[in-house]
Amino acid sequence: MIPGLWPGIFLTGSACHAAFLYLAAVMSKEIVVSGIRSTGYLHLGNYFGAMRNYVRMQDDFNCYFFVADYHALTTHPDPKLLRENVYRVVAENVACGLDPEKVALYAQSDIPEIPELYLMLNMLAYKGELEKVPTFKDKVRSQPDNVNAGLLTYPVLMTADILIHKGVKVPVGKDQEQHVEMARNFANRFNSRYGETFPEPYPFNYSDQLIKIPSLDGAGKMSKSENVNATIYLADDDDLIRKKVMKAKTDAGPTEHNSEMPDYIQNIFQLMNLVSSPETTETFKAAYNGCTIRYGDMKKQLAEDMVNFVRPIREKSMALQQNPSQIAKILKEGAEKARESSSKTIADARKKIGINYY
Ligand code: TYM
Repeated sequence: MIPGLWPGIFLTGSACHAAFLYLAAVMSKEIVVSGIRSTGYLHLGNYFGAMRNYVRMQDDFNCYFFVADYHALTTHPDPKLLRENVYRVVAENVACGLDPEKVALYAQSDIPEIPELYLMLNMLAYKGELEKVPTFKDKVRSQPDNVNAGLLTYPVLMTADILIHKGVKVPVGKDQEQHVEMARNFANRFNSRYGETFPEPYPFNYSDQLIKIPSLDGAGKMSKSENVNATIYLADDDDLIRKKVMKAKTDAGPTEHNSEMPDYIQNIFQLMNLVSSPETTETFKAAYNGCTIRYGDMKKQLAEDMVNFVRPIREKSMALQQNPSQIAKILKEGAEKARESSSKTIADARKKIGINYY
């Protein structure tokens, strides 16, 4: 019999072998990191672009998911609302199926190693490249009175969020693709200056493409702060969902068989694909191709399927929000798990840079 040490106890023979296999499996799990800004109510775009993947990934990967409350400060939110916003994001994530026992679910501001790594990475990020980022340029256009340095270095903070756990898979929607690409560049830049430290992070989605969930008016995407009447929020009640869906942009319908779909009709089919049964979507597709489609009926069906999809999430989230001490516990335990990993990474980064004086 071969004696082996397993958390403080002696194991023998096959038990020892199984334990080592388990340990190897945990250690070999790829690291996943992603965050959601606490800037408003979460919507179907957040769900299908990000949270649906979080939930699927939690069993197979070593996952770190957080509320990006520092990122939210770029828009100077009311301090009185901060806690409520953070708690709601946590509750909505749990309501969507995230299990805080399986993942680290925490607030970005609870991890002091993140701003420390952000500072280090800022020395490797250049003004010119940051000014060219499309999301920064959009903000310069949309809020010219508040073009703060936090907005400019937004992708650097995102990089710190990811690299602090040496994350490799980053489940995000299409709109975050370029930010993750920048994180990859900054990781490589750090490595070539200070030696191999960080793996390259990549955006992730279970299908082969990153997702963008369109708004119901056919003009843009679902968003926490824009297109609010054309965005379905996870907190919307049944009637509001019906009202929003029935207002979705349509037209008089096709006049030729198998004609190409305008964008706004494709959008409605995309949404139907996500919440309705495949048979339902196929029936309406056949009706479209045969020029017999009635968009009123299609929207009614879509509205009911959306109501049925959102209702259990909304109810679970509201119930959890009634219990703030449970949310506080989730955040505290999540921060403990996240700090275990982030403290190791920051020690490594400091050493590589040469910050180890005594
Ligand atoms: P945020 O808070 O805007 O969005 C959270 C997640 O939801 C996705 N998303 C969408 N996906 C598809 N269609 C949509 N209409 C849609 N709207 C939002 C986003 O792509 C994102 O995955 N900067 C990030 C937060 C962040 C982060 C990070 C993400 C901070 N640090 C590190 C990953 C890794 C943001 O503002 O996401």
